[in-house]
Amino acid sequence: MPKPLTIACIGCGGRGLIYLELASKQPKRYQVVAAADPCESRLDRAERYSANPDFRRFRDDTEILAEPQLADVMIIGTQDAQHKEHAIAAMKRGYDLLLEKPIASNPDDIAEVHLLARRLGRRVMVCHVLRYTAFYRKVKSLIDSGELGDIVSLNATEGVEAWHYAHSFVRGHWSVAAKSSPMILAKSCHDLDILRWIVGTKCQSLSSFGGLMHFNQRNKPNGAPARCLSGCPLGDQCIYNADRYLTDKKRWLFISPLPEDSNESDFREWLHNSPWGLCVYQSGNDVVDHQTVNMLFKGGATATFTMTAFEENRHIEIFGTKARLIAGDRIKKGYGCDILVKPHADNKEAVTHCIGQSDGGCATHMGGDASLVDALYDEMRGKDTSAMTSSLEVSVESHRMAFAAEESRLSGQTFHFE
Ligand SMILES: NC(=O)c1ccc[n+]([C@@H]2O[C@H](COP(=O)([O-])OP(=O)(O)OC[C@H]3O[C@@H](n4cnc5c(N)ncnc54)[C@H](O)[C@@H]3O)[C@@H](O)[C@H]2O)c1
Repeated sequence: MPKPLTIACIGCGGRGLIYLELASKQPKRYQVVAAADPCESRLDRAERYSANPDFRRFRDDTEILAEPQLADVMIIGTQDAQHKEHAIAAMKRGYDLLLEKPIASNPDDIAEVHLLARRLGRRVMVCHVLRYTAFYRKVKSLIDSGELGDIVSLNATEGVEAWHYAHSFVRGHWSVAAKSSPMILAKSCHDLDILRWIVGTKCQSLSSFGGLMHFNQRNKPNGAPARCLSGCPLGDQCIYNADRYLTDKKRWLFISPLPEDSNESDFREWLHNSPWGLCVYQSGNDVVDHQTVNMLFKGGATATFTMTAFEENRHIEIFGTKARLIAGDRIKKGYGCDILVKPHADNKEAVTHCIGQSDGGCATHMGGDASLVDALYDEMRGKDTSAMTSSLEVSVESHRMAFAAEESRLSGQTFHFE
């Protein structure tokens, strides 16, 4: 039996803990040996998942990286603006990385991480979880099979969903671009990455439009206080009322650093003081709530992408010379299948494909987190690094598309890649 891959983690928040929990379910392949996070309750969970009597806990990146290399792979699960520093320090200490997206928050920092990984020969797997889903793998295999003919046009939509948007991008960590990342990078780098992967050629040019239309002061209802729990007179009518964190939206409280045994009054107190209790029309947020990107790929295929706060889940349409493919949440709701392929020939019937629920279906991350952790072993141990599914190499390219889209949105100019 080959040796298990040993794993350590810097940043045991929502993402870090998901990966640690999934890895701990495969003890023959993975051993979680150490973790760092300033939050004790998160370290407790990491230690519980590890089930390793020699598990080591550290207060932060500096403490864990002051030690000699403790594991084969370091998960970088901290916030966007910290990735560059933590990735570089961990690579210098000898670790290969499972690096949360974005690789870093600006193109120069990404280039620095990329160059260092090359120079040191480190493997870096970027958490582009969608590439690992059964759903997108099936879409890609249908295209690669030639069933659709040449790909001419694509339309993709990412519906963030209104409450999720308000939670993460109005009140949450990704609400101010300068402190984290622009929306097109923070949320939609996955979608640009999938489009690039599916088309199979480089993006040549793109343009983008978008803005923050709804979650701003202009739409603040008269009389709404700065915080929902300060007796908002419109609380009963507002779907974003933070009081819902204590009723039907409790599952979103995972964001809080409070210990697991906290009670309702602890969470109420936390909502009184944290950004998650703010009125969504007065949160100081600036990232867009809707954006479109228009792309031209080498070879002539064109694609459009829409991110909106006001739709749920993902949807994609791919138009080829032999057939069209429609897939995602809308087709699921309408036809009960995940992917529908309709040949242009009149005498050919549409073919449907279902992705089993156990394979992740087509909602949220679509099983991508589990499949990514499944793939981690081979991606880190495989002989051929060019065969990695979401290596730094391929991820850098789709990150560049996201930065170009933001530049185009802000400048109003079409961006041409060299
Ligand atoms: N791949 C995906 O689909 C996906 C989805 C959501 C988020 N993300 C990305 O994952 C990253 C983490 O997101 P999250 O939701 O888990 O955030 P989070 O805030 O829940 O987790 C970050 C953790 O880092 C810890 N931390 C802060 N400073 C630290 C330090 N110096 N040393 C060690 N730990 C430190 C925090 O205490 C926290 O527990 C973000 O960059 C985010 O953009 C990726």
